[in-house]
Amino acid sequence: MKVPFLDLKAQYESIRSEVACELQKVLDNTAFAGGHFVEKFEKEFAEFCQCRFACGVGSGTDALWIALLMLGVGKDDEIITAPNTFIATAEAISFAGARPVFVDIDEKAYTINPELIESAITPKTKAIVPVHIYGQMADMDPIMEIAGSKGLMVIEDACQAHGAEYKGRRAGSIGDAGCFSFYPGKNLGAYGEAGAIITNNEELAEKIRIFRDHGQAMKYYHSIIGWNARMDGIQGAVLSVKLRHLEEWNLARRKNARLYNQLLEDIEEITVPFESDYAKHVYHIYSIRVDNRDELIKALTQKNISCGIHYPVPLHLQDAYKSLGYSKGSFPVAEKCAEQIVSLPMFAELTSEQIETVSNEIKSFIEN
Ligand SMILES: Cc1ncc(COP(=O)(O)O)c(C=O)c1O
Repeated sequence: MKVPFLDLKAQYESIRSEVACELQKVLDNTAFAGGHFVEKFEKEFAEFCQCRFACGVGSGTDALWIALLMLGVGKDDEIITAPNTFIATAEAISFAGARPVFVDIDEKAYTINPELIESAITPKTKAIVPVHIYGQMADMDPIMEIAGSKGLMVIEDACQAHGAEYKGRRAGSIGDAGCFSFYPGKNLGAYGEAGAIITNNEELAEKIRIFRDHGQAMKYYHSIIGWNARMDGIQGAVLSVKLRHLEEWNLARRKNARLYNQLLEDIEEITVPFESDYAKHVYHIYSIRVDNRDELIKALTQKNISCGIHYPVPLHLQDAYKSLGYSKGSFPVAEKCAEQIVSLPMFAELTSEQIETVSNEIKSFIEN
């Protein structure tokens, strides 16, 4: 049986007529750059996230960069984050003019280890960017406590965590700002590039809205030097439709994760994902750990099962970040995980038969 890593077509088939209807409205209104459909989605997404404001932007990378800039991050600042993330987290910090400072992760949850944050703080530290990796939120209470006591800002990278919760609070709503990606493969994915920043700070939301539209609140009157980071109307409309289904899709992902866990957790050689007591995990990625990861991926590929690795090289060991001066051994937990992780097929429409097929193939690989 063929099991894709992700099946966007299956999701599209289930909402085809709803999407067609909304897209027709965008075309009829020629509301292509920003406009009504983006504003409508912003209101709906803010409410979904239990937050006062949402500002649509061009991508998750834009969201992180603009949130940092508008919160005053700049040259010579240090920003603490985790090394086991997509490079955009660090790119946004670098392009805001600041320096990423990495802190190792918790071996079970794979999110930043709050116990290690304090020793990474220097007089130059300005903010912490916890990454809610794979769809599980970082341990926010101790992070907010450290930030509060040291006068640091917290910008949540919630790009993989739409609808995830920490003690009942939604991802992105706890820090000064929360940043989302709507890249097509995300739990809430656009039909192109899009992102959003959420915040409870009205002044910050207004600043972001002005910045993302060339620094203008009124057409051709520019109060600041801004940028073009608007969300497309088409993406706003698609996201509004898909947001109606997100809760149900996240539940399906959780159900799929439960079945994988049941089928795999007794295999000694496999570590299944850990859901922290505080968390509602939304399984953007279902990542297991195994020693001979590359051979497992090869065996599964031969059986028509597609897997991924998120991510094979932690950011402190990427060539792009050589200048930061880290080396192998700097973050042992993140490095060990990078060598062992395999992301199994995970999406809402995945069937029990597909999950059983994947699990059986993993079992027979381990046994042989
Ligand atoms: C953790 C994380 N941060 C940032 C981003 C960047 O988002 P985008 O691809 O929409 O720019 C992503 C997207 O893959 C991500 O997974």
